[in-house]
Amino acid sequence: YRRLRVALLGAGAVGSQVASLLLKHGDELADRAGAALELAGIAVRDVDAPREVDLPRELYTTDAESLITGADIVIELMGGIEPARSHILLALGSGADVVTANKALLATHGPEVFESADRVGASVYYEAAAAGAIPIIRPLRDSLAGDRVVRIMGIVNGTTNYILDRMDSEGADFADVLADAQRLGYAEADPTADVEGYDAAQKAAILASLAFHTAVPLEAVHREGITTITAAMIEEARDAGFVIKLLAVCERLIDDAAESISVRVYPALVPRSHPLASVHGANNAVFVEAEAAGSLMFYGAGAGGVQTASAVLGDVVSAARRHIAGGVGQGESTRANLPIVPIGHVTTRY
Ligand code: HSE
Repeated sequence: YRRLRVALLGAGAVGSQVASLLLKHGDELADRAGAALELAGIAVRDVDAPREVDLPRELYTTDAESLITGADIVIELMGGIEPARSHILLALGSGADVVTANKALLATHGPEVFESADRVGASVYYEAAAAGAIPIIRPLRDSLAGDRVVRIMGIVNGTTNYILDRMDSEGADFADVLADAQRLGYAEADPTADVEGYDAAQKAAILASLAFHTAVPLEAVHREGITTITAAMIEEARDAGFVIKLLAVCERLIDDAAESISVRVYPALVPRSHPLASVHGANNAVFVEAEAAGSLMFYGAGAGGVQTASAVLGDVVSAARRHIAGGVGQGESTRANLPIVPIGHVTTRY
């Protein structure tokens, strides 16, 4: 097989699992990709930091720039805006395809990243940026490209679902279950992103942009978190036949023949008989309603290192296949597949 050099940026909960699976299943992935995927190195801030997964020490480097410029595929799993943004732009500028799970970056700098990719004919893959292991980016971008999506209703943050679920089933205390979610590797480095709904809002912006073929800016997403939800509220909801879930709702609204989009994240009362009420633990679920397809449901692990690594590696195989097929120079970034056609304005109307 032709060898493709893969650079990994970040060795956190997801990154370390990606490296480990890439090394463990290298032969199998090579068969599927049609290329040998050589892990060229892992860029980290501190080579000697303690890590949960044991990987060959010589893979680690603090010189991200050199690693990136020699790579065919760059996997960015550092999170945050900088230096992730600069590294991705450097990767695209030097002709590499990029795989990222960085929802914060895509929700705030998506157009810049996709335009950079288009300029050089590179691709940006981001299946892991929303709903962890669940395939939802490709279904919205590709499988449903011939349909018209009217609504998405999803549980897209594992940490808050884990917290609300344990508060509901055990009457557990918010702070204790948050600590457990952090220990299990579900929570963001700064759990405020989870519990205040920022993480879900970023994912909602990404999903709505794909579903409605427009650029939905993060600022247009109405956001409420779960920090004000008390055990008493959960109990009251239960007595009335409801469960409280943090929902991301993305809708196409038609008013007097004018179309607009509403994207909002908020703790909602969900009837116990509704399928979303049965999404337990750190799982996610995304319901998609499309004009022709009707209702579709995507369900599975929305957080967790090894689970999210599955989506990342799927993207790596896709990127490698495109390289081998000679597709380099003809990128398939979202923008290329997603003409920016604004549909009215974005509203936070309920
Ligand atoms: N902190 C995120 C969550 C991880 O809890 O869903 C996956 O994006």
